[in-house]
Amino acid sequence: MVPGEKSKSHEVKQKIEEQMLKNHFDRNTKILAVGGGVVGDLAGFVAATYMRGIPYVQIPTTFLAMVDSSIGGKTAINTRYGKNSIGAFWPPKAVLLNMACLQTLSKKHLRNGLIEALKMFLIADKKSFIYAEKNLCAILKGDDAPLKKIICAAIKIKSHIVNQDARDQNIRMSLNFGHTIGHALEFVLEYKILHGIAVAYGILVEAKISVLLDILDAKTYQKIYDVFRQLGITTNFLQKINCNKIIAATKKDKKNSENKVRYILLKTMGDIYKKNGVVAHEVSDRIVKKAFLALSEE
Ligand code: GLY
Repeated sequence: MVPGEKSKSHEVKQKIEEQMLKNHFDRNTKILAVGGGVVGDLAGFVAATYMRGIPYVQIPTTFLAMVDSSIGGKTAINTRYGKNSIGAFWPPKAVLLNMACLQTLSKKHLRNGLIEALKMFLIADKKSFIYAEKNLCAILKGDDAPLKKIICAAIKIKSHIVNQDARDQNIRMSLNFGHTIGHALEFVLEYKILHGIAVAYGILVEAKISVLLDILDAKTYQKIYDVFRQLGITTNFLQKINCNKIIAATKKDKKNSENKVRYILLKTMGDIYKKNGVVAHEVSDRIVKKAFLALSEE
């Protein structure tokens, strides 16, 4: 199954479970999820529901799955109503990484994973963001040492956050920086865009929103944009996107509460904005539109 077909994954999940039942897989069955994020999410969700829950191990083979989706026990499938809209929190028994898998990835997929790592650094680890910036070429060439350093740093941040809030009630939502817009973009483009790339554009829009709300300074925004530009992420692309469609799609976001769309906002490089300990904040459609407009004029 390719990522764009993840919305069909409820049918695939049903077929897998039927085969497992037909072949008498019992409660002692253990699932090994070998692959990228789509495989990990689907295998994890099968594990969460089969016989009311069986153990599984994540063996991520992509950069993105290594730094993000394999960690923290979120399992889900997409539906036509939105990304990851049906799923369960079901932590794997272990996550096993083999760096050699990264050698088979294209530059495009290395970039896809790197963006999720950069997102982690933006919300929690300025030093690693600067390290990544200095080593962009080596990382995209697939050099082992910087890749290992980036992956270890990202996993450390993610596990620290997940350990505080496994069920995504507050601080874990900070991992969603760039994702309110990123997920909406994926939905509007019918998942014909890689997740990391959509998140990169989401980061630009959400960082710009943070600037418009006087939370982030313009100089830091510019530094972030300079790094993303080196990865081929430019505001030119956003000029072609209908921001009204994106805003409409954000109404389905899982962070929403009482029909209000909530965003993670950046305070500085390596830290997010919190108000009374809360990390997800309501932002009006007017400000989101203003951010798109400002980006289209850059
Ligand atoms: N990928 C976001 C999370 O695991 O919470």
